[in-house]
Amino acid sequence: MSPVFYHVLHVISLLVLTGYTFFAFAGPAPATKKKVMMITGIASLLMLVSGVGLMHKLAYQWQGWVIVKIVIWLAISAFAGIAYRRPGARGVLSALTVLLAGVAVYLVYAKPF
Ligand code: HEM
Repeated sequence: MSPVFYHVLHVISLLVLTGYTFFAFAGPAPATKKKVMMITGIASLLMLVSGVGLMHKLAYQWQGWVIVKIVIWLAISAFAGIAYRRPGARGVLSALTVLLAGVAVYLVYAKPF
């Protein structure tokens, strides 16, 4: 697979993961939980696979920015499930998702450590 394949897969999974995470924030109805958990789960897995694929294709080591991105990925991947269990936390989770995704995007372009 070419690096472009992993780049595109990474960004599409990011769009799907964050899109459906905000869908859960907007209305965590029990009827949609199974579908949203399935879609965010698959998108989350594809994000990790494409991220690790990019690391190998672009010959990156396990630097600090990658480790922080993995922590952010873990957090954002858990947020949709938390929103269904604790609807009261949705405001904080929305702000955190924007903030953490912003940090991850900064890290990938600046690679400060
Ligand atoms: C929610 C967390 C994450 C966000 C918001 C995010 C976002 C991005 C964005 C916007 C890009 C640039 C687009 C591209 O070049 O494909 C990118 C590239 C990349 N990401 Fe992620 N990513 C996340 C998680 C991860 C994880 C978990 C890994 C590693 C296991 C990873 C590894 C990479 C690598 C290696 C690149 C390529 C960097 C480069 O081209 O120099 N990302 N990510």
